[in-house]
Amino acid sequence: MKEKKILVLPGDGIGQEVTQWGVAVLKKIGQEGGYHFTFDEGLIGHASILAHGNALPDETLAKAKASSAILLGAVGHPSYDMDPSLAVRPEMGLLKIRKELGLYANLRPIKLFDELVHASSIKEEVLRGADILFFRELTGDVYFGEPRERRENGTVALDTMIYAKYEVERIAHKAYQAAMNRRKKVTSVDKANVLESSRLWREVVKEVALSYPEVETEHIFIDAAAMKLIKAPRDFDVVVTGNLFGDILTDEASQIAGSMGMLASASVGDKYGLYEPIHGAAHDISGKGVANPLATILSVGLMLDISFGLQAEAQAVISAVEQVLKQGYRTRDIAESTTDPAHLLGTDAMGEQVLKNIHSYAIKS
Ligand code: IPM
Ligand code: MG
Repeated sequence: MKEKKILVLPGDGIGQEVTQWGVAVLKKIGQEGGYHFTFDEGLIGHASILAHGNALPDETLAKAKASSAILLGAVGHPSYDMDPSLAVRPEMGLLKIRKELGLYANLRPIKLFDELVHASSIKEEVLRGADILFFRELTGDVYFGEPRERRENGTVALDTMIYAKYEVERIAHKAYQAAMNRRKKVTSVDKANVLESSRLWREVVKEVALSYPEVETEHIFIDAAAMKLIKAPRDFDVVVTGNLFGDILTDEASQIAGSMGMLASASVGDKYGLYEPIHGAAHDISGKGVANPLATILSVGLMLDISFGLQAEAQAVISAVEQVLKQGYRTRDIAESTTDPAHLLGTDAMGEQVLKNIHSYAIKS
């Protein structure tokens, strides 16, 4: 395999603490499997605003375009949450990199590790066996639609919810292709009883579905989907939905996996791949060494699988995480009252445990 250049964008808050464990896991996989992974770093988010006055410098974007894959920590800073009127915001870096790299498909696998069934606030009998793969459209919708502005002396505001047929088509194809390798069911989520953009969404998904006759398709409205997700999470296999609905539904779905600290994501298009934990900057715990690195480590698993085509290595990463959980190790966010205090680990100790469980036999088999 030729050199794989990984651009690391730690970003803000706990981003630095967790991405270093993603890198450590990649280095270990590289050693065990004899792959040539190289690493570079860049600025994004608040860290970049402090240094350059904007959330995504051209230098970072150029490095991203020259990379084989990108590992991102998190962006965001509490001072901006308090003042939504600020024109330059850390999140703009994330939105810009998604758009510039054409990362239109955001994959968010929601997998409940058996060991964490009690970490969720949802009942065990409802949860057990839940395994959902979200395809959230990531470069369109009301997130990017124009016009977006204030009118009438600032007393009226508008955003534009808009989808073009090709945008729906390409994400729908990705969702159906994934479903073919899973339980062959796609749930498309929209608000077609009210919104014109959703009526187009549904029409196009129906058309795409014709190319995948083996896959069962279900169309449901976003409000019903939100309800069903916690009522009967096992009914879902692959879910495909727009940017805004997907943003909201995947935060809700994170509770199925016990903690946001467990959820990985991949943002891909036709060329680039960006991998990040979905938990965000979590400034309340940053610098304390208690953040859960598992979501980042699992994101590296997705990178190995999707960007590098290394399925056995990806599986070795997932198995290592599973093993560590079986051994009873927990970070604070996934601990229970019954967790043995000796098994309660900080970020670095948890990262070390995962490294110990990545075995070369798992990679070569
Ligand atoms: C996410 C986040 C982002 C989004 C924010 C930080 C802009 O919530 O990745 O889900 O809304 O897409
Ligand atoms: Mg979100």
